Amino acid sequence: MSEEPQLEARLESQEEFEPPASFVEQANVTDESIYREFEENWPEAWERAAELLDWEQDWDQVLDDSDEPFYEWFVDGKLNACANCVDRHLGERADQTAIEWVGEPGGTRTYSYAELHEEVNAAAAALRELGVEEDDVVTMYMPMIPELPIAMLACARIGAPHSVVFAGFSANALAERMQAADSEVLVTCDGYYRRGDALDHLSKAREGLEQVEDVTTVVAKRLGADAPSAVEDEHVYESVVDPHRGTEVDPVTRDAEDMLFLMYTSGTTGEPKGVKHTTGGYLSYTAWTSRAVLDIDPEDNYWCAADIGWITGHSYIVYGPLALGTTTLMYEGTPDYPEKDRLWELVDSYDVTQLYTAPTAIRAFMKWGTEYPERHDLSTLRLLGTVGEPINPRAWRWYHEHIGDGSCPIVDTWWQTETGGMMITTLPGIGTMKPGTAGPPLPGISADVVDTDGTTVDPGEGGYLTVDRPWPGMLRTLYRNDERFLAEYWQEHSDTENDNWVYSPEDGAKIDDDGYITILGRVDDVVNVSGHRIGTMEVESAIVGVEGVAEAAVVGADDDVKGQAIYAYAITEAGQTETDEFRREVIAGVEDAIGPFARPAEVVFTPELPKTRSGKIMRRLLADIADGEELGNTSTLRNPGVVEDIQQRVQERETE
Ligand code: WTA
Repeated sequence: MSEEPQLEARLESQEEFEPPASFVEQANVTDESIYREFEENWPEAWERAAELLDWEQDWDQVLDDSDEPFYEWFVDGKLNACANCVDRHLGERADQTAIEWVGEPGGTRTYSYAELHEEVNAAAAALRELGVEEDDVVTMYMPMIPELPIAMLACARIGAPHSVVFAGFSANALAERMQAADSEVLVTCDGYYRRGDALDHLSKAREGLEQVEDVTTVVAKRLGADAPSAVEDEHVYESVVDPHRGTEVDPVTRDAEDMLFLMYTSGTTGEPKGVKHTTGGYLSYTAWTSRAVLDIDPEDNYWCAADIGWITGHSYIVYGPLALGTTTLMYEGTPDYPEKDRLWELVDSYDVTQLYTAPTAIRAFMKWGTEYPERHDLSTLRLLGTVGEPINPRAWRWYHEHIGDGSCPIVDTWWQTETGGMMITTLPGIGTMKPGTAGPPLPGISADVVDTDGTTVDPGEGGYLTVDRPWPGMLRTLYRNDERFLAEYWQEHSDTENDNWVYSPEDGAKIDDDGYITILGRVDDVVNVSGHRIGTMEVESAIVGVEGVAEAAVVGADDDVKGQAIYAYAITEAGQTETDEFRREVIAGVEDAIGPFARPAEVVFTPELPKTRSGKIMRRLLADIADGEELGNTSTLRNPGVVEDIQQRVQERETE
């Protein structure tokens, strides 16, 4: 690690809330002894998660740790994820709604488990016909339309791992991910609706495909007449899927450790990491946490308002909820269209029972005011959840009072793409809630907060979050890159000589006397903008890719709504003028390389960047400058004189 973590405890809070009795009465998990059970009977206690699924063959061993940290869970167990999420519910719940989809302009599509079964089978048959074989990686580049989870489940059915690329990523980012995964099949769509406009998505997909060879492309129609039509070498989704309606495709028997999917995420280098998740451990873990933390029952109308293009949507819109046979809601659009009460309108009309969303959204709702939720009956809600970034106590209280009417527990769930599912949070039927603090590690999860030497810090002190025991939902490796897997996650805090393996999530944290963990934010070069994880190196390499830029440094600055905002400092090449037009070019460079969601909020041109004597850019200092904070001692810099100049330039931008 190059710089000390931000250790200041930003989220002070003394308040405590008990789970409401009305919730506890009906909760899935209410007995505190569960923590002890996992402790005393670890790792076997994890069988209770696996037992939530149907297995074609039982496992011989719960955990194989003979080749640490390449752990294997539910060894030799066999199952199919799609059969678990769809087929097994047909008996009792064939007519119950599996997916309730709401389009932004208003249309809806409802799939019962029987209908989902038919759709998924037809899609699986179509993919097979197009040449997809077991273990081929299928990429999906799609917004929130039903064909996305259908295609994911179809892949799971035939044992083809999927790699979903969030629709907001650029053409280049799509191409990079397809190349990294050697993926030769793409499922995409013509477009989607955003704030009332029909957005063309297909042109972006096509642009990406120009950089990837021999790709078979399937295009789902969301816009129909409003959109460009498929060209000769593209297959229209309906025309390849419809002929297979009524076909049954046997779910392929997969080993517990076979890959279910890949998900690319940002790390400390410019290159995204292909996080590999498996079938048995991941599905058991998402099912278990959906039941224990989100309190999901089949009768629920559960809604996770995330995007399936990120891990939250994979685990808690698709796999966890469907494995439990519930109704999962999927909404295409934004929360402020056509009006700022859209979410509440949906909670009201679909009798939503649990809502799981991001703090950034809650802060936006808070800003818009209580009149929007007040227009609707939200009394069906019994649990609220948050994920993706720390929630400040004020937003927590607002959510509790104005959305939950004081009668819903809130689960503040800390986890990551890599962990597959929730790791640190209260159990809603058991734990006292402390706004701003995620909570204790879940039963069976062993987390700690340590200093640079690996010693547990005192309560209240900041340090590094670590996880010192494996868990079923964990990533198994980075796709085709075991070395990077070891280097990124296991090097820093493990004592490998004594075979003591410790996972490093790269988050700063503190812990209180009750063992509750408060997350303080990333300690690596990753910023969290509206819950989207963005590597500063990726943004920097995009910026230096713009002709006229010599060097760049990117940091996260505090932002009231988004949590963090991207601040870019750039040195121009000789002869390049520092105009607003050039600033727009720099921003466009980032949009092209990554996507609009990674767009810098500010670009500050500067003749120099502050560097240490060894030549490292002092990003921490640049973040403090962006936040307008008092700076500490800068005399150790190689070029202390630049600091004042940069501060002045930042102020000039802010007053503009
Ligand atoms: C942050 C999202 C505070 C954290 C599921 C983590 C959180 C990163 C919380 C992972 C939370 C996630 N409180 N911070 N409840 N949940 N984070 O991979 O920094 O997109 O490392 O997974 O988000 O982001 P990712």
